[in-house]
Amino acid sequence: MSASSSTSVLAPVIAIDGPSASGKGTVAQLVAEKLGFHYLDSGALYRIVALAAQQQQVNWSEAEALGTLAKTLDIRFKDGEIYLNDALITELVRTEEIGRGASEVAVHVPVRAALLDLQHSFRKPPGLVGDGRDIGSVVFTDAKLKIFLTASVEIRAERRYKQLKNKGLNADYDKILTDLQQRDLRDSARSASPLIQTPDALLLDTTQRDIQQAVDFVLTAYKKLS
Ligand code: CDP
Repeated sequence: MSASSSTSVLAPVIAIDGPSASGKGTVAQLVAEKLGFHYLDSGALYRIVALAAQQQQVNWSEAEALGTLAKTLDIRFKDGEIYLNDALITELVRTEEIGRGASEVAVHVPVRAALLDLQHSFRKPPGLVGDGRDIGSVVFTDAKLKIFLTASVEIRAERRYKQLKNKGLNADYDKILTDLQQRDLRDSARSASPLIQTPDALLLDTTQRDIQQAVDFVLTAYKKLS
């Protein structure tokens, strides 16, 4: 059955889209927890494709080969861990290098098409919170609530910097800032499912809001619809 053939009985979706390091993943997970909904980290799927390509020596620029590869991946999310063909890859996909790779493989139409059915399969009762770049604009256009979550690029770079430092990793603020600016440009300027705020999405700017305030914003907006 296609995702759109029986819209009335499908589980509700909350779509949270936005640029890198805006905090959308954390907000989406907390909202999902609060509502008892499932959670889809769509960025992880693009990261997994980038990692698998690296492991199989497929270049991040080879659209067709990447599309074929993306169709054959055996991906499992379980208890907060990610498995690829039964190997634990949770930490491997989180590196800055694979993040960059994800943003490169994500420009290719065959890759995006290959990941579409997989993303639809996450929609199960009682509901789904999905975060990414095109969850509300392409993947679940009938989402009950669409949020465009953003923050200034400087604040996002600062948050990413602190996140890496807290993990005991090396971090260079200027490099992070340049990298985010490049990623923003690539995500927004690409022709396949660019990052955009759709007219029906609510803008949530977290430049001056903390995570809890952002979560409350989403929950309040969702309750208003119920
Ligand atoms: O942590 P960050 O926001 O940088 O990355 P992510 O959400 O894990 O996504 C990694 C990359 O995948 C992004 O830079 C996007 O280019 C791509 N992506 C996408 O194109 N569409 C999505 N729905 C989610 C992620």
